[in-house]
This record gives sequence, C-alpha cells and structure tokens, in this order.
Amino acid sequence: MTAPLRQGELAEPTVVKVALGARAYDIVIGRGLIASLGSRIKALRPGARVALVTDETVARHHLAAAETSLKSAGIDSARVVVPVGEGSKSYATFESVCEAIIAARIERGDLVVALGGGVIGDLAGFAAASVRRGLDFVQVPTTLLAQVDSSVGGKTGINSRHGKNLIGAFHQPVLVIADTALLDTLPTRDFRAGYAEVAKYGLLGDAAFFAWLEKNWQDVFAGGQGSGSFAREHAIAVCCRGKAGIVARDERETGERALLNLGHTFGHALEAGCGFSDRLLHGEAVALGMALAFDFSARKGLIAAAEAARARAHLAGVGLPTHLKDISGGAPGLDQVMELIAQDKKVKRGKLTFILVRGIGKAFIADDVDAAEVRAFLAEQYR
Ligand SMILES: NC(=O)c1ccc[n+]([C@@H]2O[C@H](COP(=O)([O-])OP(=O)(O)OC[C@H]3O[C@@H](n4cnc5c(N)ncnc54)[C@H](O)[C@@H]3O)[C@@H](O)[C@H]2O)c1
Ligand SMILES: [Zn+2]
Repeated sequence: MTAPLRQGELAEPTVVKVALGARAYDIVIGRGLIASLGSRIKALRPGARVALVTDETVARHHLAAAETSLKSAGIDSARVVVPVGEGSKSYATFESVCEAIIAARIERGDLVVALGGGVIGDLAGFAAASVRRGLDFVQVPTTLLAQVDSSVGGKTGINSRHGKNLIGAFHQPVLVIADTALLDTLPTRDFRAGYAEVAKYGLLGDAAFFAWLEKNWQDVFAGGQGSGSFAREHAIAVCCRGKAGIVARDERETGERALLNLGHTFGHALEAGCGFSDRLLHGEAVALGMALAFDFSARKGLIAAAEAARARAHLAGVGLPTHLKDISGGAPGLDQVMELIAQDKKVKRGKLTFILVRGIGKAFIADDVDAAEVRAFLAEQYR
C-alpha cells in the first residue's frame, strides 16, 4: 500500500503513451502536476516560449499556478484569456486567439498551452494547428471530460452555424498533463457530466472497469487523498489508456474510433434539441443516450434486459439522467429528435449508423439500423 499523501504533495504520476509514430506523446496523470508544468515543458522544448490559452473561470482558479510554474522554469509566457462557454468555439474568438498568439511572437518551435476544458482544448488546439501552418501544443485539461476525452486524440475545432465542430483539424498535442487536483474546483454537475464519459469506456469495451466503477465511483468523485486516494487517478488513466489505444489504431475515425460515440447519436440529438443549453449538458446527454442505446439493444434482442438495466442503474445512481423525463423542461419532441438524428448520421436508404451493444463492454458499430425501428423505440420512451 502506498502511504496517503498530504495535500499538494506529488506522487509518482501515471504515464500513458499514445503510440502515433513520429507524433507519439505522453499523457501524464497525477495530483498536483501543474507545479511541474514549467519543468516538463522545458525538458520537452528547451528555450521555447509559451502562449497560455484559457477561459475566465479557469484563469481565476488555476492560471496563477500555471504561470508560477512556467516562470520558475525560466519560461517566458503570454496569456490569452477568452470568455467562458461553448460560444467561444466561434470564428470571432478563434480570430482573436490566433492574433494574440501572433502578437506574442510565438513562432515555430514555441508552444501553445491549452489550460481549460474541452472548449479551450478544441479552440486553442485549432489555433495551434492554424497559426504559421501548425504550432506544437500542450493540453492541460481542467475538466473531467477534457482529462478523459477531449484532450486526447487530436480532434480540434470550432462550431459552424450549421453545427458543432464542423470547422477543424486533426492536430495531436505533444504532451497532455492531467492534474487531477484541478478537478477539485469543478462544480459537481460538470464533474458528474464528465463522469458519463468515464462510464462510457467501461460500457463500450471494458466490463471489468465498469464493475470497478460500480464499486468505487464515490472515491472517483471524492478524488482526494485518504481512503479514496488514487481512485480518480486510476479511473482517468484507464480511460486515457482506452482512448489512446483506439486512437493509435484508428486516428482518423475510419472504423473503431466510432465506438467512442456510444450514446452520442441519441445524446447529440437531445443536446441539440435542448439548444445546447444548461438544460442538458453534453455528458448528461451522453448518459441518457447510453441508457437508450442499451435499451434499444435489448429491444433488438442483442442483450438481456437485465444487462441494460444494470447499465442504467449505475448512471442513475451517480445522479445522471437516464430517462427522457429526467430532462429539465421536458424532452424535445419525437419528430424533432428523429430529424436531428437523421442530420447527425446520414441516412442511407432509411438506414442509420448506431453504436449498439452485445453486453456491457461489448459495443459494436451497427450501420444498418432501421430509422422506423428507432422511431418506434423512441415513441415508447415518451410514454
Ligand atoms: N476534441 C474532442 O475529441 C472532444 C471530445 C469531447 C468533447 N469535446 C468538446 O469539449 C467541449 C466540452 O468540454 P467541457 O465539458 O470540458 O466544457 P468547458 O470547457 O466549457 O468547461 C465547462 C465549464 O467548466 C469551467 N471549468 C473548467 N475547468 C474548471 C475547473 N478546474 N474549475 C472550475 N471550473 C472549471 C469552464 O470555465 C466552463 O464553464 C465541447 O465543445 C465539445 O465539443 C471535444
Ligand atoms: Zn462526448
């Protein structure tokens, strides 16, 4: 047994490797890692200057620690602070971030550092991909969603008026530093929404991890030291290992990477139907979408009803929505949801692509799902 650490003390971090040949990188996971940001960057790119991109809320909580660490390693940094929220994944904010990076005289060989949640990672990553035809960048994810999902895998981008993430690039980071202590300041609702993506890794491909989560989720939420020590770090590491493996085998999503969309077809439609508002956060939509994907799989006879009930029970147990009636203000209408599903995943001769399951940990890509069958299933959910 490892002795419990005191607050601020640094344990040996966990390192997950993303094997992408010349573009391989490490994901370093541990409590208190932000203090080592400067020394890690210095080791990776001696002499590099840094543009630190963040949002106003994250700046309030964690910018000082990041800047102190850079400064103590002798690294010159410029800060770029954008407004909070999905609205910053816009042309206007993208322009201001690119201009700020250029104004700070960040050149090839220097680094962009994304300090924030998925919004900052996507925005700063896309700016890094674009300025001077590509600058290297480091992800310092500060939400659970970003630590287990968006900071890994190189998808970057902003939103179009036609839909989310329609303008972007694949641009892998050169390093990901996931400091699990940064999540202590995250509102519980955001943490819980990110947890849906954690559960997703168990549900899609790792039944043993799902069983572990059923036993240990409270320690993942508590996250600190003491009796729950390292549960959070362990969970994040398992997810990153899962995603790193999938990304290494299918970087551009021509196959297996689509499994990461478990719960996202139903989820995206519900999220969009709620106007991407506070009524339903992304992770909440994914939880509900996964519950629906399991139920739909049961309805098709792919899994036992009890298995679908087990998946739902865990998600509901942590406080995530799993029924349409759980959506505050009510679910969007059936016609709208069906239309949004059709938009999200192109319909080919009435057939839709869904991620379905043959059991907990056994997701697969089904590309011949009958739209009429989905509609009939969803109609039952409104009763
Ligand atoms: N690139 C990918 O592969 C990928 C994957 C999944 C999601 N995404 C994108 O990620 C975005 C969602 O990410 P998100 O959920 O992290 O949202 P977010 O970045 O908006 O963060 C959520 C909220 O938490 C605040 N916050 C962040 N860190 C905090 C901290 N440590 N303490 C206190 N508050 C903190 C933020 O200011 C914000 O208000 C979406 O735009 C989505 O499209 C991208
Ligand atoms: Zn997601």
